[in-house]
Amino acid sequence: MPFNQNKLKVLLLENIHPVAADRLRQEGFDVKTEKAAYSEAQLLEAVKEFDVIGIRSKTQITAKVLEKSERILTFGAFCIGTNQIETEIANKRGIPVFNAPYSNTRSVAELVIAEIIALARNLGDKSMKAHQGVWDKSATGSYEVRGKTVGIVGYGHIGSQVSVLAEALGLSVIFFDVLKKLPLGNATQAEVLEDVLRMADFVTLHVPETPETTKLIGKRQLSLMKKGSFLINASRGSVVIIEDLVAALKNGDIAGAALDVFPYEPKGGDEPFKSELQGLPNVILTPHIGGSTEEAQEAIGREVSEALTRFIKVGSTFGTVNFPKVDLPVRQGADRILNIHRNEPGVLRDINKIVSDLGANITAQFLATDSNIGYLVIDMERTQAKLAVEQINKLKTNIRTRILY
Ligand code: NAI
Repeated sequence: MPFNQNKLKVLLLENIHPVAADRLRQEGFDVKTEKAAYSEAQLLEAVKEFDVIGIRSKTQITAKVLEKSERILTFGAFCIGTNQIETEIANKRGIPVFNAPYSNTRSVAELVIAEIIALARNLGDKSMKAHQGVWDKSATGSYEVRGKTVGIVGYGHIGSQVSVLAEALGLSVIFFDVLKKLPLGNATQAEVLEDVLRMADFVTLHVPETPETTKLIGKRQLSLMKKGSFLINASRGSVVIIEDLVAALKNGDIAGAALDVFPYEPKGGDEPFKSELQGLPNVILTPHIGGSTEEAQEAIGREVSEALTRFIKVGSTFGTVNFPKVDLPVRQGADRILNIHRNEPGVLRDINKIVSDLGANITAQFLATDSNIGYLVIDMERTQAKLAVEQINKLKTNIRTRILY
């Protein structure tokens, strides 16, 4: 399929940050923006008219939409999660999906730092009382954070940022991670989770949701925490057993908690939020806003639009959630064939035969595979690429093939 990337039509739904449309227009693409999400019926029309569609969390890219997405080159998820897209089906149809998992790292880390101080000073309750006309000036149970210890569970993108910011405030940092990590600053890595629980004044959770992290913090772990310490969870709701936390708070085993994520979260603003933690003293509850800042939205807009552009213009799939990853150099003079094929024995032999029968001069070749598909990139001399693609398209293992001129 000859392909002119500059005439590409891009649809951006759900009020994606304007920086995305600006950048894509700068690349020469024809960009249409919409404030709302699209229904399945609207998407079934849109996939006939557009080459790229960007969504956030409300638009559902279903199997039915993907079945009709012959024209679609790629979907951009301008958010963190990609549950709203049938990514496995997209993979089998040769459509990479890009997202921006780390654009809001700093926003989450800043919220956690704010919560460390807020918990130490009983800020939530003091503010609520002042709103209600109560002048509670007592210093009892209020502390500086300087010189205290923060225990970070999960020293990845967010955990390590919290580490840097916490040290700047004069906190000591101890962390636990299943992987050996390079400690930043003066932080130290603990051998086991229990050491972090025993030593920290503030335990903050930054693990992903996995079978191992589900119910990671329950009665036993809470009982190991220092009396008067605090728990912060801005990771995933499944990580903490809420009833055990409620018991630990009511017994006074720990002095407070801040939670941004919950085992069940309301689907939208119309649904009331209910939690056994409501009404408990020194418990800060926030509606999963760790990553919700203007800066994070802008960073997502920038990051995803750049990844989409790299895929469209260069063929790079670095940053996809559902595709073999190839980070490609800009091509030098040659045409570039981008071939997505079913990962079956003999595919490369067939493609290489086509190329060698043409006597084509290959200047570079890259391959990455997963269990379903292979992504093969071949740079070759101009006239030959077109002839090769005509034949590659006829192979029964071919899913889609395009040329970058
Ligand atoms: P990441 O993947 O960069 O880091 C996770 C770290 O946890 C890795 O170092 C990993 O080795 C470690 N880990 C995995 N299993 C572990 C275990 N059983 N015990 C100890 N360590 C373990 O992830 P990132 O970006 O730092 O995100 C962390 C969490 O924050 C995720 O659950 C993510 O969903 C959540 N998040 C929450 C947001 C919010 O709005 N509250 C926004 C963004 C992310």
